Amino acid sequence: MKLAIAGKGGVGKTTIAALLASLFQRDGYSVLAIDADPVANLAASLDFPDPHDIIPIVAMKDLVEERTGAKAGAIGVYFNLNPYVVDIPDKYALSHNGIKLMVMGGFRSVASGCFCAENAFLKALLSYLLVKRNEVIIVDMEAGIEHLSRGTAAAVDLLIIVADPGKRSIETAHKIRELATSVGIKHVQAVGNRIRSAEDEERLTAALLPIKILGIVSDSIHIREADINGRPLFDSDAKVITDVARIKASIIREFGA
Ligand SMILES: Nc1ncnc2c1ncn2[C@@H]1O[C@H](COP(=O)(O)OP(=O)(O)OP(=O)(O)O)[C@@H](O)[C@H]1O
Ligand SMILES: [Mg+2]
Repeated sequence: MKLAIAGKGGVGKTTIAALLASLFQRDGYSVLAIDADPVANLAASLDFPDPHDIIPIVAMKDLVEERTGAKAGAIGVYFNLNPYVVDIPDKYALSHNGIKLMVMGGFRSVASGCFCAENAFLKALLSYLLVKRNEVIIVDMEAGIEHLSRGTAAAVDLLIIVADPGKRSIETAHKIRELATSVGIKHVQAVGNRIRSAEDEERLTAALLPIKILGIVSDSIHIREADINGRPLFDSDAKVITDVARIKASIIREFGA
């Protein structure tokens, strides 16, 4: 089952990705979490030791060069568009508390005109992970979903757009949905995060239409404090865990596993 998580900056993508990963793992699923956000912090949210020392895949220059045949950052040179990546997860995924994690690192901005070896490498790797691997895969994306090519997008079973009651996060959710539909993602649903009241939930549900709400997560001072103090997310708030467990159950019910 392949899940991708997107939404406006700061809306709670990494928090929800980490909690879903932990809950699937506790159910006995083999879980591979992928941090596809250049500003990577999924490792910290999953309580990996020394998260700041993790070298993202894309920063492994020799590896990128070996597989693509081009020096990282080189522009205007020939390189292999289909680099061999099949061995990468087993060699480079980290593991902690039974969860495997790959930190991808930053795609070079396409707006800068860069179509470089690193991007080809990351795209090939993401595509392999999503299309071929047989695990619960949870991809923590950056705000947009620009890096999902059509072929890769088709392998995503469900795109979860996280939205909070703020107007801008709702606008972003609608933009992401349009983009998702245009690249051929089959299922797009929303998680309402930082919900404080039934009224919050009702308003958000209405504003997100036609995007269906998969579930909601309560606003929690304990989650925020765990983040601020670097304490394990999973033990910080039972109510939030129950909320996310309900979302996980809906995912299994609707999308199988
Ligand atoms: N349900 C919640 N209740 C309270 N605080 C929350 C909740 N969910 C997330 N937060 C807090 O909001 C902040 C942003 O969360 P998070 O890092 O998960 O968002 P993000 O969408 O991944 O952000 P970015 O776009 O920077 O990657 C963090 O401080 C986190 O602890
Ligand atoms: Mg994040």
